[in-house]
Amino acid sequence: MIGIGLVGFGYWGPNLARNFQSLPQYQLAAICEMNPERAALASQNYPTAAVTTDYAAMLDMDGIDAIVIATPVSTHFELTRAALLAGKDVLVEKPFTRTSAEARELIDLAETRGRIIAVDHTFLYTGAVQTIKRLVEAGELGKIVYIDSVRINLGLFQSDVNVIYDLAPHDLSITQHLLERDPVAVQAVGASHAGNDIENIAYLHLEYEDNLIAHFHVNWLSPVKVRHFLIGGTSKMIVYDDMQPSEKVKVYDKGIVIKEGDVESLYRVYVDYRTGDMVAPKLPFGEALRVEAEHFAECVETRCRPISDGHMGLSVVRVLEAAQRSIKHHGDRVELSSI
Ligand SMILES: NC(=O)c1ccc[n+]([C@@H]2O[C@H](COP(=O)([O-])OP(=O)(O)OC[C@H]3O[C@@H](n4cnc5c(N)ncnc54)[C@H](O)[C@@H]3O)[C@@H](O)[C@H]2O)c1
Repeated sequence: MIGIGLVGFGYWGPNLARNFQSLPQYQLAAICEMNPERAALASQNYPTAAVTTDYAAMLDMDGIDAIVIATPVSTHFELTRAALLAGKDVLVEKPFTRTSAEARELIDLAETRGRIIAVDHTFLYTGAVQTIKRLVEAGELGKIVYIDSVRINLGLFQSDVNVIYDLAPHDLSITQHLLERDPVAVQAVGASHAGNDIENIAYLHLEYEDNLIAHFHVNWLSPVKVRHFLIGGTSKMIVYDDMQPSEKVKVYDKGIVIKEGDVESLYRVYVDYRTGDMVAPKLPFGEALRVEAEHFAECVETRCRPISDGHMGLSVVRVLEAAQRSIKHHGDRVELSSI
């Protein structure tokens, strides 16, 4: 059994605690929470776990092999670093860190010490994204030419990060997982309406080689919740609507056929439309966090690399950092090679 120490029992921590507690591979040995009311709740819900407000004390406890970090982003670097130095494997919430320099330092430390870092990019473990990944790998979509996502709702205004750091890691990790490559440049614009300098609405534009573009709209100030992810391929296109209770993924056999013009209309290009069937594939069932926790156990036991490892976390953070830089310069194009 893998002994788990969870730090952070706020909004997301309880979901992690529930999943780790329910799996036979783990023992939820300790919970560290600095807020006394939340710590009392953790004690009440998990009476067999040692609950403490002292993180260093938890790292020193016997029987803890891995640390799960569910605290605000600004704390991820220090808490992950301390866990790695104490010889623990780590599952840290998204986004991995605030800066790419921090992410690189943690990756180096984990590699030197032979420790595993996994970043909780939860969506990668959903049946929907697993199915889309399978379709992309099988070449069903042809060449992917664009990705377009809307992730908006009346969200919790965070005090330490903007909406890009809060919501875009989902879109960026899905995109990175599907494309397996980084963009070359990023542009972002956004605005703050809460009387501080923290953007609550933003638009990200990612530019890849081969004329592939990706566009993400993230917003905490929308009256409706939308989770709409569109992938355009030269053969087929996918609409992933996470708000649908079933048939979240729809594969459209639609597209264009480009024909060269005849002599009279020299240089003119004709576009014909191709409209075939729509298929909604059956998706694997299961809570993403549970699937992820099972995968993490396998990585800890066999010392293999997690799907969402530190390098995936770094790829996401590099784009966040580029977007942050762009947003502060009114949408300037930021080359990813500079990050
Ligand atoms: N994967 C997902 O889908 C998902 C969803 C929501 C949040 N998150 C991520 O989870 C993390 C936490 O978000 P949240 O919404 O739960 O935040 P939160 O503020 O609700 O909870 C964080 C908790 O950590 C505690 N804490 C902070 N520093 C601590 C320390 N040094 N020692 C002990 N306790 C400490 C706080 O008291 C608080 O209770 C963030 O990184 C966020 O991005 C991920």
